[in-house]
Amino acid sequence: MAIDQKTATGCPEQEQQKEEPQKNDEPLTPRVSRRLFLSSLGAAGLAATAPPLLAASVVSEPAVMEQAESAGPSGFVPLTLKVNGKSYSLRLDPRTTLLDCLRENLNLPGTKKGCDHGQCGACTVHVNGQRVNSCLSFAMMHSADEITTIEGIGQPGNLHAMQAAFIEHDAYQCGYCTSGQIMSAVAVLSEPVGPTDDDVTQAMYGNICRCGAYPNIIAAVQAGRNQTDRKPA
Ligand code: FES
Ligand code: FES
Repeated sequence: MAIDQKTATGCPEQEQQKEEPQKNDEPLTPRVSRRLFLSSLGAAGLAATAPPLLAASVVSEPAVMEQAESAGPSGFVPLTLKVNGKSYSLRLDPRTTLLDCLRENLNLPGTKKGCDHGQCGACTVHVNGQRVNSCLSFAMMHSADEITTIEGIGQPGNLHAMQAAFIEHDAYQCGYCTSGQIMSAVAVLSEPVGPTDDDVTQAMYGNICRCGAYPNIIAAVQAGRNQTDRKPA
């Protein structure tokens, strides 16, 4: 027996919704759809609820909308980002997170994606010297910022004191959280953090290690702090 497509679910309310599917995509302006607008506000709201790690990346919703409105027919917007001292000219979907931009567009995979929800710290980078969860921040918020990733902290043969301390203290097992841990640890060097291990534990609370390497991580951060005190970067 042929099935009437309009009553296939047997639920009149669902069928009524089915007959108006395009409402979510009704344009708010000629160039910004309702879906794009809501996606932008949702991510901006997420960014606004994650202080203090996002202190350096606060951006207003109108600024997000302004960028979205400037998108061409493809939906991509031009953007210049300065990362590890180098300028990159890009065209991006305005909803691209800083984390995805670094990994997918700039080929800087040292910054890791763990939870993608601001809960693990694997994606920590520096924006104007302050640590930021890059998964909670739009790339287009940072056209005027100096961004530093783990690749810009040090390289084999020229390691930062904190990187050397992590190696010396065996402060990792699988290593997935390590770049985020080191980025936070380097930020701690310029933050008002007390001298004790408990102080360091508090300061590093946003960086989760699923391998549980915390004792070695704290020892490494303390050693890196001492080393850096003797030889300021
Ligand atoms: S990936 Fe950003 S906090 Fe987990
Ligand atoms: S070393 Fe494996 S998650 Fe930290």
